[in-house]
Amino acid sequence: MGQTMEQLREEMEQCRKCDLWQSRNHLIFGEGNHHAPIFIIGEAPGRDEDRVGRPFIGPSGILLDKIFAACGFNRENHLFISNIVRCRPPGNRPPTPQEAAACLPWLNRQLELVDSRIMILLGATALKYMAGPDYRITRVRGNWIRQGNRLMMPVYHPSALLRNPALKRDTWEDFKKVVYKYRELVAPDHYTPHIP
Ligand code: URA
Repeated sequence: MGQTMEQLREEMEQCRKCDLWQSRNHLIFGEGNHHAPIFIIGEAPGRDEDRVGRPFIGPSGILLDKIFAACGFNRENHLFISNIVRCRPPGNRPPTPQEAAACLPWLNRQLELVDSRIMILLGATALKYMAGPDYRITRVRGNWIRQGNRLMMPVYHPSALLRNPALKRDTWEDFKKVVYKYRELVAPDHYTPHIP
């Protein structure tokens, strides 16, 4: 039998593949439904996440949860939320290519276990490491990228929406496409009052 999420979590907790373990309070494994139809990929934990040990619980996470709620999605049923790297880079800088390379095998194992049909890439870092270095978030957001039998939707990172609220309008259009795809592939009767 293959590895379970709990076995993966135990293995991951020991990780010292890059230097970020030295400053971490928590390694953030990810959370949500272990068989979620939608897999969310962020960049890296921030201060709040490092303190508590859960992904997206700070200001970005609060905004993200509001967007999910408007889509009729929640962490318990529809989503699994993870990151490119699991430990907080000091000062919230983006992860280095070396840190991302060290951490990506963990994400790939999670992706295999959860086996979601739909992935949402939050921001430039997730896009770069999941789709490739030539992709630009401003150019490709809102457009599906196919990888094998997975479909990836790149969207702006919620921290970008907090810095520049004008981006919220486009982002809502992008999330509407995710809801339409979810209805097409997973649950035709998925209801949210915000999206007919
Ligand atoms: N930003 C991210 O990219 N990931 C988190 O888990 C929190 C904030």
